Amino acid sequence: MTLATDELKRLGPQLLVFDDALSLARAAAEYVAALSAEPAIQRQRFSLAISGGSTPQTLYRILAQPPYSLVLPWNDMHVFWVDERCVPPEDEGSNYRQARDLWLAHVPLPRSHIHRIKGELGPQAASADYAARLREFAEIEHDWPAFDLALLGLGDDGHTGSLFPGPITIAELTETTLGVTAHYQNRPANRVTLTPVVLNSARNIIFMVSGESKAEAVAAVVRGNADPNRWPAARIRPRRGMVTWMVDRAAASKLG
Ligand code: 6PG
Repeated sequence: MTLATDELKRLGPQLLVFDDALSLARAAAEYVAALSAEPAIQRQRFSLAISGGSTPQTLYRILAQPPYSLVLPWNDMHVFWVDERCVPPEDEGSNYRQARDLWLAHVPLPRSHIHRIKGELGPQAASADYAARLREFAEIEHDWPAFDLALLGLGDDGHTGSLFPGPITIAELTETTLGVTAHYQNRPANRVTLTPVVLNSARNIIFMVSGESKAEAVAAVVRGNADPNRWPAARIRPRRGMVTWMVDRAAASKLG
């Protein structure tokens, strides 16, 4: 890690504003390439947790094509999911399917390096299965990997991953204590998600946010001190990792 990166971490979250969603996705691709170069050399592994939603779709398409498809350290890369709907992998709502179709099926990432959440098992069993998988990649201190990079989105209501507004319930807290995943039953499909404690041990986090409908949520969370029950993304405050907000002008429009 360079001194410049250490300095940046001390300064708190970085905010990068782009003209539009395409420039944002291009910059995110460069970020993935730059970050994946360093840890791969040191630890022979680059662990990446990715999200669903529409915003990262362009990024996935870009990473599926040259130059990225040719130069990223695929053999060292391990892909995990931030969250998943409890649907089969071929379902249109599957976050795994989205990333596979747009990106992973087009690059030489070893199949054994794809660690999906098995939503089809249902929330309890999928959580337990994913927890066991994460444990295989555990690092000192934790039962899960300290992701080299977690790519997060932001909903209009301030949700990220499948952490929705409202207090974290006892059931979810139990899962949080285990340090693994939580499951939710209040959306069209049940969800399995990484909890804040896992995300907050990531080395780097990027929030990718596009569109005016997100402006209020961006302003609330980026300014700091937002109520996490109202704006769940405010729960993401890594202890040592760096947070970078990549937003387009529309999403930044209420930041002042
Ligand atoms: C999902 C996500 C979710 C997403 C936000 C933003 O599975 O849908 O992980 O948290 O990132 O809802 O979604 P958009 O990019 O579509 O706005």
